Formats: sequence, C-alpha cells, structure tokens
Amino acid sequence: MTQQKPASKRDPQGAAKSVFITGASSGLGRQMAIEFSRRGYCLALTARRLDVLKELQAELAASGGGPVFVAALDVTDELSVVQVLAQASAQLGSLDIVVANAGIGHHGAIGKLPFDRVRDTINTNVIGFMATVDAAMHQFKAQGHGHLVGISSVAAFRGMPAGGVYGASKAAVTTYLESLRAETHSSPIVVTTLSPGFIDTPINRGAKSRPFVIGVERGGKLLVDLIERQVQQATVPRWPWSVVARLMAVLPTSVIAKLR
Ligand SMILES: NC(=O)c1ccc[n+]([C@@H]2O[C@H](COP(=O)([O-])OP(=O)(O)OC[C@H]3O[C@@H](n4cnc5c(N)ncnc54)[C@H](OP(=O)(O)O)[C@@H]3O)[C@@H](O)[C@H]2O)c1
Repeated sequence: MTQQKPASKRDPQGAAKSVFITGASSGLGRQMAIEFSRRGYCLALTARRLDVLKELQAELAASGGGPVFVAALDVTDELSVVQVLAQASAQLGSLDIVVANAGIGHHGAIGKLPFDRVRDTINTNVIGFMATVDAAMHQFKAQGHGHLVGISSVAAFRGMPAGGVYGASKAAVTTYLESLRAETHSSPIVVTTLSPGFIDTPINRGAKSRPFVIGVERGGKLLVDLIERQVQQATVPRWPWSVVARLMAVLPTSVIAKLR
C-alpha cells in the first residue's frame, strides 16, 4: 500500500473539495457521504432511489453540512452517467473525487444462480463501474486533475464457491483500475482501489457467515481516511484482510471447496 501525505480538503482556489458518489442511497455510499459532509466536502450523491437521496440531503443540511447535489442515476445507463456527472460538475464547479461505489451482490453456484442475476451483477458492478470511470476520466482530463476511487472487494482475491460472478466482477474492478493507475502515472490524476471485507450493510445481511464484520460507521470512516490519504490500494479494514487476502490467493482448491 503506497501512502501519500494527507490531501488538502480545499482546492487550489481555496474552495471546499467536491466528491461525486454512486450508490449513495445505502450502506457504504451513504456512510461515506455522511463522513465527507462532516469533513467539510461538497457532495454530489447519486443512486436509483431519488427519494432516499433527498432524505439524506435533508439530514446532511440539518447537521450543517455544505452543498449537496442529488440526482437519480442508474449506472447501467451509460448516457445518464455522462449527463449526471456533467450536471454535478456544473453545479459544484468541478469534481475533485469520484467514488465508483454502486454495486450489487448476488451469490449462488454457477449453473444454479439464475442467469439474469449473473447478467445484472456484471451490468452493475462491471459495465456500470466502467461507465462511471470513463465519464470521470473525461471530466478529470477537462479540468486538469481528479481522484478516482473504485470500491472493489476482498472477493476479488480468490474465486469462492457460490461467489463466482460477484468475485469476477470485483476482480474486473481491481484489474481495470490497475491499468488506469499505470495510464495516469505521473499525471495529476490519482487512482485508489479500496477492497472492503465484511462491513455491515444490506448487501451482506442475508449471508450465513460474515467473518471479521465491522460496523458501517467505522467502515465509512476508514474508507474516507484512505481516500483522503490518496492510497493506491488497501483492504478495509487493513487488518486482518490484507493477510487473509494473501492467504486466500494461495490456499489449495481442496481447502477453498470447503468454505461454502
Ligand atoms: N458491505 C460490504 O461488506 C462490502 C464488501 C466489499 C465490497 N462492497 C462493495 O461496496 C459497494 C457498496 O455496497 P454496500 O455494502 O453499501 O451495499 P448496499 O447497502 O446494498 O448499497 C448498494 C448501493 O448501490 C446502489 N446501486 C445498486 N445498483 C445500482 C445501479 N444500477 N445504479 C446505481 N446505483 C445502484 C444502491 O442504490 P439504489 O438501489 O438506490 O440504486 C445502493 O445505494 C458495492 O460495490 C459492494 O460490492 C461492500
């Protein structure tokens, strides 16, 4: 994990930095919004459920936060991604940080999980993610700087039984951002890949087992700390997942097969 010194919460003109988040209506996206607001950032919050975003907007205003732009956005609609990102930028002046967070988590054995769920997972977690990154890169190149944050998962480190499509979708996130990091090396564009373990949100509440689970408030703080430090990549929390992830990658299939 490469770390840099804490980034300023103000842009070079002294204005508060702005953050655009997909999937801000629930779980990690919502908690990152609350945490960024507490830390003085301007926000652009998107998800499909506009009513939920409006409630969050009101909550943040009541607790004295800065400007919050909200918009309905389905990340699988790539034209909408471009339009909403442009609207948010026009409203907030620029977009310093874009967090590609929206995601879904269908699990089931390959051949048993209905294929429409496989397709939905790839459409949201891969195509929707890449559409967000693409639109952000156009924005960052036009404004001359930017910080792209992608929310991957420890599921990217090893294909698990019943976790095929989710793990594959997150491996795509991690690999895509490795390419982007190399492409933007030595440029004013920063790329961060965050790989959470289990953080208590609706995406995993039905899971039979959630090893090392942490609360969403702590998860949100850790994520925003890592984003402010502009790390290249990290598991969240770092311990024990950085070690467990390395172990998962080398365990024999006979052991992995038992981890159902
Ligand atoms: N929680 C964990 O333990 C954990 C671990 C590793 C990785 N992650 C990743 O963290 C990210 C956030 O997950 P979470 O835990 O916060 O789950 P969550 O509480 O279920 O939230 C998922 C968010 O994604 C949005 N979303 C889903 N499909 C969308 C679409 N097509 N377009 C736009 N927004 C969409 C949802 O909003 P709407 O329904 O309103 O659109 C919601 O705001 C996901 O990428 C997930 O894979 C989570």
